[in-house]
Amino acid sequence: MTTPIPEPPRRTSADLVAEVLAASAAANTDPVAAAALADKAKAAAGSSRRIPGPGAGVSAGTHTGTVPIAPVTPTGLVSPEREIVRPNGETYYVRKMGIHDDVEVLREARRNDVPVLLYSGPGTGKTAMFEAAFTKDGFYYVPGTGDTEVADFVGGYVPLPGGGFMWVDGPLPLAMDAGLPLLVDEIALIDSRVMAVVYSVMDGRAQLKITANPEHDPVEAKPGFVVFGACNPRAPGAKMSEALVSRFLLHVEVGVDFQLMRKMGVPSKFVTVAQNLKKKYDASEISWFPAIREMLGFKRMADIYGEPVALANMVSQSPEMDRPQVADALTRGYGEAVRTLEIK
Ligand SMILES: Nc1ncnc2c1ncn2[C@@H]1O[C@H](COP(=O)(O)OP(=O)(O)O)[C@@H](O)[C@H]1O
Ligand SMILES: [Mg+2]
Repeated sequence: MTTPIPEPPRRTSADLVAEVLAASAAANTDPVAAAALADKAKAAAGSSRRIPGPGAGVSAGTHTGTVPIAPVTPTGLVSPEREIVRPNGETYYVRKMGIHDDVEVLREARRNDVPVLLYSGPGTGKTAMFEAAFTKDGFYYVPGTGDTEVADFVGGYVPLPGGGFMWVDGPLPLAMDAGLPLLVDEIALIDSRVMAVVYSVMDGRAQLKITANPEHDPVEAKPGFVVFGACNPRAPGAKMSEALVSRFLLHVEVGVDFQLMRKMGVPSKFVTVAQNLKKKYDASEISWFPAIREMLGFKRMADIYGEPVALANMVSQSPEMDRPQVADALTRGYGEAVRTLEIK
């Protein structure tokens, strides 16, 4: 008589990875190994996290899958909200992409299985746009780095406290199964050989075979699943293969909305200087200009320490080679000498 081999338990919660790793860390008597496991637990909790939405995915009714895109009206795609509170509590103001509302472009992409790539310099609101668009439903998230591995997408075996291993699905099968978007952030930093794992699911075949776990059933993509990417093509080490780039049907450059910055309370004089620096950046005269993140940071520093410190800080924050030009632009804009922030 043969004893059936029990199927290894398969769990689908990304948080479970963190829990199991944390439990392993607690049970480990070797302090170095325990610390390493605790670190992994923290990383697991962050890496395959589902950006929460209240619902358990989309209902089939909200997905238009094979329905052709509705003819574009002169008014474009309109988001029902003008302002969206993101999961971190910050307010996102809906921006325009041509005649369309930016977040609605992403939602329409999801309804029509269109992989979208957002690209731009850092701090222009790429990640924020995805979070705002899918605050209600949630989405899965892979933060790209040079060390991102296939396992960070598909999942892997994690050690159990009492010995043995358990398979835990990663964000890719979880997103496919839930019919939710998968955002691969900083996608150009990920090794092309690793990114090949998403090719088949971006091609519309929409079935994933998990070779690392032969017992795993192939994963079918439910309606509502789509791969989105965001990247800064000028970041050191950024590179994307032709095979990957061509799988993104819609490529959107995310610019800085200076009017929005004024609306959000960034001093107008500073916004004008930022606009001038952006012109120099576009003409390749400098390598940097204050994007949304830096402008909002300027406002915060000015609120806390006063404008002179915020101005000097802006020079200190800029790349060393651009500092003379940044200081010059601020000096002209404010009519008084602005230098780096220093303690004397
Ligand atoms: N439309 C917007 N409305 C309000 N805040 C925004 C908007 N776009 C970007 N931000 C803010 O700008 C900062 C940078 O955005 P982020 O998405 O992290 O940039 P990126 O992913 O392009 O590096 C965040 O603090 C974000 O809240
Ligand atoms: Mg980002």
